[in-house]
Amino acid sequence: MSRRPFVAGNWKMNLNRAGAAELAGVVARGSAEVGAAVECAVCPAFVHLDAVRHALEGSEVRLGAQDLYFEPDGAFTGEVSTAMLQDLGVRYVLTGHSERRHVIGETDDLVSRKTTAAIGAGLDVILCVGETIEQRRGGETDSVNERQVRAGLAGITAEQMSRITIAYEPVWAIGTGVTATPDDAQAAHARIREVLGEVHGAEIAAATRIQYGGSVKPENAASLFSMPDIDGGLIGGAALKGPGFLEIMRAACT
Ligand code: PGA
Repeated sequence: MSRRPFVAGNWKMNLNRAGAAELAGVVARGSAEVGAAVECAVCPAFVHLDAVRHALEGSEVRLGAQDLYFEPDGAFTGEVSTAMLQDLGVRYVLTGHSERRHVIGETDDLVSRKTTAAIGAGLDVILCVGETIEQRRGGETDSVNERQVRAGLAGITAEQMSRITIAYEPVWAIGTGVTATPDDAQAAHARIREVLGEVHGAEIAAATRIQYGGSVKPENAASLFSMPDIDGGLIGGAALKGPGFLEIMRAACT
């Protein structure tokens, strides 16, 4: 089963409007050169979505958001609905990012509600999972990933799985400069794919893309992406520099 690699930039709480539009322009122009072999998305802050959408016009780069709220509308101060995102041309949304789980305090249940709401509304989802360093040291990597995958997908049907990407992002590798070895990442991805098989069957498991995230850089991207169960990456810090991000995209074209 061949899966089209998918590289997404998570810009987090960085850049200003002009900087976000400029970076999007660089990615848009560069992606034309990379071509259709790799799918690409960028996820700017909510307040930059509109500017980035304009900068991406005419390119194949997809627009993603970093979060959403699961209610359709109402008295939820500070939150952003799926319809608001779609109105801005958003196609992808991240759920369960480790900074939302561990810094903001999102639970598995909230991640599940957000994932279900996003898919129900017609958005595509990148569901992020991954263990902390304590959990890894305690031998809990696979059980944590399994729990987060099963919980995150609790409301998702087999038919909807084609709009789900999983991002395996070990928390200890995010923003630290310490990357999982290709073998360690591959082992975690293979186990996540098994869990997908237990939930939705072998065919869906084989078709679902699993990105690796956590200190992916131009220098290590090719060795990670060459592993059989790694289908591209979710890139944080290295996505903030256009040329480096394009290099990572090229590394996914194998
Ligand atoms: P990083 O972040 O590439 O800066 O480690 C990855 C992510 O949080 O998605």
